[in-house]
Amino acid sequence: MEFLELAKKRYSVREYTDRQVEKEKLDQILRAAQTAPTACNRQPVHLLVVQSLEGLEKIGKAANLHGAPMAVLVCGDKDKAWTRPYDGKQSVDIDASIVTDHMMLEATDLGVGSLWICSFKPDVLREEFSLPENLEVINILALGYAACPPADPERHAALRIPVDEMVSYEKL
Ligand SMILES: Cc1cc2nc3c(=O)[nH]c(=O)nc-3n(C[C@H](O)[C@H](O)[C@H](O)COP(=O)(O)O)c2cc1C
Repeated sequence: MEFLELAKKRYSVREYTDRQVEKEKLDQILRAAQTAPTACNRQPVHLLVVQSLEGLEKIGKAANLHGAPMAVLVCGDKDKAWTRPYDGKQSVDIDASIVTDHMMLEATDLGVGSLWICSFKPDVLREEFSLPENLEVINILALGYAACPPADPERHAALRIPVDEMVSYEKL
């Protein structure tokens, strides 16, 4: 699929069927994560794949998965992340988010629905999954098959700010 077509097709799925994501598709989604660029190629990201009922219940104490049959906890490793020397800004959130985006778009290409979730209780996830101090959940990516009609791929003209409002060009 042409990239812009794929990007327009993706939408946030907040209603899922019980159908499990096939192992081959999950593997491909995870391989897409592996291709993501990270600052200085430090790769400060760990992916915790959660598919069991017990695991999903644990996430449910911290976030709304909207019935997704699986989720990936995208964790950043602050001990591995690059830090910009000029101001000390760490790249970990950026790195983890590029990985998340790669997985989300690969999922779309495979016909798998997804939801990017940042509204979660981090302390609950840390406790429930016994995460070590260096790992922080940056994003949750819920995955599964949509039980709702797809969003209109042409919706962005109405739901996003116009390109010329988002972009400015240097004055020469
Ligand atoms: C960084 C980030 C955090 C988000 N967190 C949540 C969330 O916690 N819960 C949720 O339902 N949607 C969440 N979303 C989904 C956005 O609400 C959604 O992408 C946006 O409204 C545009 O809709 P669309 O994805 O259908 O195009 C998040 C998206 C991003 C990129």
